[in-house]
Amino acid sequence: MKPDVRIFEDLNALSEAAAALFIESCAQAVTSRGRALVCLSGGNTPSRLYDRLARSPYTEQVDWPHLHVFWGDERCVPAEDLQSNYRQAHDALLSLVPLPARNIHRVRSEMAQADAALAYALTLQSVAAPPLNWPRFDLVLLGIGDDGHTASLFPGSPVAASVPTAAVKADYEGRPAKRVTITPPVFNSARRVLFLVSGEGKSESLAHVLYGSFQPELLPAQRIRPTDGELIWLVDQAAAGSL
Ligand code: 6PG
Repeated sequence: MKPDVRIFEDLNALSEAAAALFIESCAQAVTSRGRALVCLSGGNTPSRLYDRLARSPYTEQVDWPHLHVFWGDERCVPAEDLQSNYRQAHDALLSLVPLPARNIHRVRSEMAQADAALAYALTLQSVAAPPLNWPRFDLVLLGIGDDGHTASLFPGSPVAASVPTAAVKADYEGRPAKRVTITPPVFNSARRVLFLVSGEGKSESLAHVLYGSFQPELLPAQRIRPTDGELIWLVDQAAAGSL
């Protein structure tokens, strides 16, 4: 099937489109199921989306008290560390909106790595959609790296697992190497997955992930194929350069 790739002039336009889809996913979920389960991503790309969602005219369109947030992956640093994906979203968005603290389900990244992964599996289980042992996220945000990774599913990493979370180690751009990540079966159970891809540095890996041969060991982003949900790629012109 042809991938749903939407190309925008720049990161601003991309982030505004992402905000509109975020609002739509949350509204549909709250109407149908009384709450929205959203899985955030780390990295730099979603910062502008977070910033938009914290401000008018977007913020008033989100039913924050009924939203629950999770993370697709986390770096094993304390929550207050500037490299923490939780902290990034907290500072740019979560601390600025009326989201109840109990609706923020972060990875306990201050724990020993393997314990944090197990604890996060239990967190996912607490909102599971039986017979699954994890939720069907209403929206998952993901990014890709220049090497084709997504979340903390890195090239060559043994994350073909059937377990919902994994502790992994990978060096990328000097970022903290120890990570906890959600695994493909959980992402692939989502109702909607949104990749945000910006910048020239991503153009080659994006082209390979989308149109290259299927090599999930090398290009883990290819593992993301929702079984009964939408997969949408929001790409800026710079990142679309090799498509
Ligand atoms: C992380 C991520 C990671 C990220 C990509 C893209 O913790 O670093 O979750 O998978 O999304 O590396 O990062 P950028 O948006 O910074 O390019």
